[in-house]
Amino acid sequence: MFDTAVQQPAHLDDRDLARDRFEAIRNQTEALAANLSPEDQAIQSMPDASPTKWHLAHTSWFFETFILGPLDPGYRVFDPAFAYLFNSYYEAVGPRHPRPERGLLSRPTADAVGAYRDHVTTAMLRLIEGAGAAAWREAAPRLELGLNHEQQHQELILMDIKHLFSVNPLLPAYQAPRRYALPSAAAAAGWVEFAGGLHEIGDAGPGFAFDNEGPRHRVWLDPFRLRSHPVSCGEYREFIADGGYGRPEFWLSDGWAIVQQQGWQAPLYWRALDGEWRIFTLSGERPIEPAEPVCHVSCYEADAFARWAGKRLPTEAEWEVAADGVPLAGNLADGGYFHPCPDAMPEPREPALRQMIGDVWEWTASPYIAYPRFRPAAGAIGEYNGKFMSNQMVLRGGAAVTPSGHIRITYRNFFPPASRWAFSGLRLAEDL
Ligand SMILES: [Fe+2]
Repeated sequence: MFDTAVQQPAHLDDRDLARDRFEAIRNQTEALAANLSPEDQAIQSMPDASPTKWHLAHTSWFFETFILGPLDPGYRVFDPAFAYLFNSYYEAVGPRHPRPERGLLSRPTADAVGAYRDHVTTAMLRLIEGAGAAAWREAAPRLELGLNHEQQHQELILMDIKHLFSVNPLLPAYQAPRRYALPSAAAAAGWVEFAGGLHEIGDAGPGFAFDNEGPRHRVWLDPFRLRSHPVSCGEYREFIADGGYGRPEFWLSDGWAIVQQQGWQAPLYWRALDGEWRIFTLSGERPIEPAEPVCHVSCYEADAFARWAGKRLPTEAEWEVAADGVPLAGNLADGGYFHPCPDAMPEPREPALRQMIGDVWEWTASPYIAYPRFRPAAGAIGEYNGKFMSNQMVLRGGAAVTPSGHIRITYRNFFPPASRWAFSGLRLAEDL
């Protein structure tokens, strides 16, 4: 049921390191839920979102189902009913509770889910320390996948609780406002040019990557340029003021239909009050900050903005080639802002790509499909990514809610083009 040929990161040979990493990531998940009441943790605000409590349990189910059950003969299942409740989408491991009904689960209680987490964590620590060499060879790559999986759910917890709080008229704040350094002078946006030709993209190892990031392969690119910065709230406000949401010439047909159906007039979490735009954040509602990257736009809105600006979205290959060598640092979750920030770095001498990592996931013009010669793993774990490769678009670069150490230049996030609750923005591209 699991492809044991998945590459084993070298550091997983070191069990002390594996244990420390496991404990740190489990603790981080629990820290995200620490300020939430049991009521906060139980509610589901829309079918795409899940209750915090469900995320806390499901990430434990993953370790129980794919590591402890198959590899630890002494493991005692915490509650056999949880296999049904907390399976997300794995057909190969059995039936599951319908996703849109996760918010109806007042039981198990938040306390019971906490006990489930403790049970799985304790068993995993025992396995990490005590598994024989053969079992550890099997367990180590699954552990790495499970930890990356849990980090993905850390981001989902923040996305989902933000949506939940946004539909509460009290507009609760998840955390106190965090001040960020405003740029001393607005960093002048420029363009950075890239040569065309034959390039390579995709994961080449040796560290962990999801299966969808490979195989590494060649792509042909014509010369292009990318904007130095993501599109800002101030720039996006000009698109709105210019009637962007009322002018079909900028919109893909499917996008225009949704604008009509949903009555979209601005990004998700924007609200007009007394002629000013306000924005809901995880630190509550406040006026928009024009210098910060626009966030919570769908791919349709990103594409419409780009057309209005006379530009286009980059392809994922252009984004990845451009990002080659960019440090894996930026406004990520570990900074604690949980919101995109203005570019406060010192002005570079020459135009350079800024904020490629962190702040907002950047929509690309690329459909989420398999790379050439991609083959999902055999068995249940092959369902992790491969079966979602239709009707979604790729986003790159991570956001302010993405855990540090989780993002890679080759990382392919994906959402349906109408989706807006991820921390999604855009960067403009242009042909040369
Ligand atoms: Fe999951």
